[in-house]
Amino acid sequence: MKALIFNRTVLFTLPLFLIAVIVYTLITQPKKLTPIDLSLLKANLDNGKKVFLASGCNSCHISEGSDNKYLLTGGQKFFTNFGTFVAPNISNSKEHGIGSWDFSDFYNSIKFGQSPLGEHYFPAFPYNSYQHMDDKDIYDLWTYWKTLPSDETPSQVHDLVFPFNIRRNIGIWKILFMKDKYFDQTIDRSTYLVEALGHCAECHTPRNYLGGLKRSLWMKGGINPSGKGKIPSIHPEDLMWTKEEIMEYLSSGFTPDYDMVGGKMASVVENISQLSDLDRELIADYLLRIE
Ligand code: HEC
Ligand code: HEC
Repeated sequence: MKALIFNRTVLFTLPLFLIAVIVYTLITQPKKLTPIDLSLLKANLDNGKKVFLASGCNSCHISEGSDNKYLLTGGQKFFTNFGTFVAPNISNSKEHGIGSWDFSDFYNSIKFGQSPLGEHYFPAFPYNSYQHMDDKDIYDLWTYWKTLPSDETPSQVHDLVFPFNIRRNIGIWKILFMKDKYFDQTIDRSTYLVEALGHCAECHTPRNYLGGLKRSLWMKGGINPSGKGKIPSIHPEDLMWTKEEIMEYLSSGFTPDYDMVGGKMASVVENISQLSDLDRELIADYLLRIE
């Protein structure tokens, strides 16, 4: 009798289990994108540097407190509900960085959050924003990145809690939260600078319990990934700065009350201050028109 019940249970649950496994495998299956045809392109190093600054790769990938803003050693830690992420070495080192990668590897990491081995990256790497990057900009960034120095410091492993440590699960995260639509439907250079390159929302928008951005609270402030305090809202309702005040902050770091920018934002401002006045104006325009 017992055996019969057992057999029935197996009979019913086994197919369900198999279906679940197949569905899981299919939806978490990494898929490679094909980059643009390079033969048609001439790289622009100047533009590559601007993309590097605007997208702030160095904010996360230089070692903690380092003065060299171009040595992408890794090692900075980000504390989250899922555990601690450590930014990897993405310098030119063939052994410890990504010096042995080709353009297609670089392209897939930025555009789709996927490694050369076909594994998903964790969205602590803000590819959810970078997915909007222009192909030509990624190519210029790649060419510029190649001129940066190598560093032989090994990358550290993340310290994450189950089940968030399973890369395959990020396939589900991508389906749920990797929106290929911009938030601001104006879609001009302001949107591009803020949403694609600047990835401002990755810090300034609160996240749900699975780490997806709460789009209904766009730029309304969130938890600080460096573990200290909160990240302020930059929604115009809360910020209440003029366009000139925002532009001043992004170029000198001074707030209207003559406070100096601090925390992770200091590095964002250091980068953005090296862009043109026009770019800072476009960023300010975006902040002022958020609804
Ligand atoms: C907010 C912090 C942050 C920013 C900004 C950032 N990254 Fe990262 N990056 C990470 C983290 C964390 C990882 C590790 C992801 C993982 O292990 O899944 C990572 C991983 C990577 C990897 C994979 C390295 C490897 O060894 O497989 C590459 C390549 C990379 N980032 C390039 C960039 C570039 C290029 C930029 C700028 C356009 C950038 N990152 C900006 C945090 C960041
Ligand atoms: C790595 C996380 C991070 C990113 C990315 C980021 N910010 Fe910030 N931002 C902060 C933090 C933290 C503060 C608070 C700074 C302080 O305490 O001095 C801040 C402060 C600000 C302020 C001042 C708010 C106030 O009330 O003082 C503005 C404006 C701002 N950010 C705009 C931006 C824009 C525009 C971008 C994108 C280009 C951006 N931020 C990207 C973390 C970030």
